[in-house]
Amino acid sequence: TRLGRLQRALLAWYDLQGRDLPWREPPEDGSGQTADARSRPGARCRPWAVLVSELMLQQTQAARVAARFPEFLGRFPDPATMAAAPVSAVIDAWQGLGYNRRAVNLHRAAQEMVWRHGGHLPRELDELEALPGVGPYTARAVAAFAYGQLRAPVDTNVARVMARAVAGAGLGRAEAQRVADGLVPVDRPADWSHALMDLGARYCTARRPVCGSCPVATQCAWRAAGWPDPDPARASS
Ligand code: ADE
Repeated sequence: TRLGRLQRALLAWYDLQGRDLPWREPPEDGSGQTADARSRPGARCRPWAVLVSELMLQQTQAARVAARFPEFLGRFPDPATMAAAPVSAVIDAWQGLGYNRRAVNLHRAAQEMVWRHGGHLPRELDELEALPGVGPYTARAVAAFAYGQLRAPVDTNVARVMARAVAGAGLGRAEAQRVADGLVPVDRPADWSHALMDLGARYCTARRPVCGSCPVATQCAWRAAGWPDPDPARASS
């Protein structure tokens, strides 16, 4: 099927060209060897690292987050360390990322993890969404990236790809979520969403999509229809 081919093409591209971002690295497996996330299908990222990165990425560009993330995580390597620190220390470490409310939320979330979840991130969507600063998108990002659940975090990038490449039509929020939910490949849910985000950042961009070199151009519904106006991404709500 077209969508099956689209999935395979996008994952094959991601394996070769996906971004190496610090929060995508899987946890140490104890062997002392550095694992390459892409060499292990189904590999998962550290839950705490995923939550920290997703809160940072809510309002800050990936390149800027990547520059600050390792130091921040070194200072607060787990929820317990952050929960024990004063909120002022977290805000201090957040410097340069902006919107300090996210730092306050992260500190409160760390405390709730310690008080209510044994110092870990919960696994259920409703428990994740009950944490301060965590909405439907971030909860699904943690579920997919950290726990390998068949969840689809839909941000504006992913919604754009769903509207253009998959549906070839404008989608409402709930429709985009439903379309994305139906497309998650059972064997690589985390890689899949990372791949969609990278496609949206590199090719399927908001203003001037780079269809000429897009890895899923031949499976794209919008392109197949001759790029009709309006752009499905703009027709989405
Ligand atoms: N934006 C939000 N989450 C992201 C991720 N995991 N990688 C790149 N960009 C993102």
